[in-house]
Amino acid sequence: MAALMGGMGAPHRPVLLRETIELLEPVRGGLFVDCTLGLGGHSEAILEASAEARVLGIDRDREALRFASQRLAPYGERFRAAHANFRDIAPVMREAGEESASGILVDLGVSSLQFDAPERGFSFRHDAPLDMRMDAESDEETAAEMLARLSEEEIARLIFEYGEERRSRRIARWIVERRERGEPIRTTRELAELVARAVGPQRRTEHIHPATRTFQALRIAVNGELEGLGQFVETAVDLLEPGGRFAAISFHSLEDRIIKRTLRRLSGQCECPPRSPVCSCGARRAIEILTRRPVVPGLVELEENPRARSAKLRAARKLD
Ligand SMILES: C[S@@+](CC[C@H](N)C(=O)[O-])C[C@H]1O[C@@H](n2cnc3c(N)ncnc32)[C@H](O)[C@@H]1O
Repeated sequence: MAALMGGMGAPHRPVLLRETIELLEPVRGGLFVDCTLGLGGHSEAILEASAEARVLGIDRDREALRFASQRLAPYGERFRAAHANFRDIAPVMREAGEESASGILVDLGVSSLQFDAPERGFSFRHDAPLDMRMDAESDEETAAEMLARLSEEEIARLIFEYGEERRSRRIARWIVERRERGEPIRTTRELAELVARAVGPQRRTEHIHPATRTFQALRIAVNGELEGLGQFVETAVDLLEPGGRFAAISFHSLEDRIIKRTLRRLSGQCECPPRSPVCSCGARRAIEILTRRPVVPGLVELEENPRARSAKLRAARKLD
C-alpha cells in the first residue's frame, strides 16, 4: 500500500467528514454512490455507519480505485468500484444493476494521493513533468501539451476564468514568448518560476504562491472539471429515491456557484429574469435544500487539515 501512496507523507483526510455523514444519513442503509472515491475516506465512514449501507465508488483515477478498493476490501460485497467519469453516473449505476440511490456524494478536486505525488505534476512544490491529468493512464492531453497548443488569447482566458487571476494576459504573453523562443514549458518548476517572474514581487497582502491560481486554472482545464457539472447534479438528483440525499463538497467559487444555482433551481426557485413571461430555466420542485448556507470546516478541522480551508458543503433531500 505504501507504493500506492505515491510517496506522499500524510494520507488524505476526508474533508467535512462528520458533517457530510450527518447530512447523507447512511444509517438509513441502502445504496450510496461516492462519485469521487479518492482514497475512500468518506466511503469508509458510510460503510461504518450501518451494516445495511452499500457503496458504489466512482473515480476516473485508476490509482485511487486500486488504493480505495484495497482499503475497503474488508467490507466485501458491500463495496464496489467503477472506473468512470462521474458525469456518467447513470450508465455506471445501470451497469451495476442499480436503479436508484439512497445517497450520492461528490467531493470535488484532487486528493492528496494525486497532489502530493511529484510525478503527477499537480503541484509546484516538486519539479516534475507538467501533467495534471486525474486519469494519468489515459491518453488525454497533459497541461504541458495544452500550453503548447493553445493561442495566447486562449491561455489568457483560461487563466482568467478558471484561476480568477487578474494578471492572466501577462502570464500568457510570457508563456507564448518562451514557446516562440523554442523553449516550451515542460515542467511544474518551469511554469511556477515563469509565473513568479511574470507577475513580479508579491504584495504583502498575498499569502499564496503567485503561481497558485495559474496551476488551479490549468488543472480545471486539463480535466474539464466544470464541464457538465450542473447537468451532473441534475442527473444525480433524478437518480435518488424519494427521501434520498445529495451532498457536494467544492473547493472553489466556480464549482460552488454551479452547485448552488443548480440545487436552487431543482428546489423550485426560478432563475429567469424578473420580466420573463414564462419560466425557461427549468426550475422544478424536486428537492428540499438542507444547507441554507454552505457548511464550512470548523477551527479544529482547519488546524488539523489546512487543505480544507476553502471547502464548502451543500446538501439536499429528494422530495417524496
Ligand atoms: C478530493 S478527492 C476525494 C477524496 C475522498 N472523498 C476521500 O475521502 O478519500 C477527489 C477524487 O475525485 C476524483 N475525481 C475528480 N473529478 C472526477 C470526475 N469527473 N469523475 C470521476 N472522478 C473524479 C479524483 O480523481 C480524486 O480521486
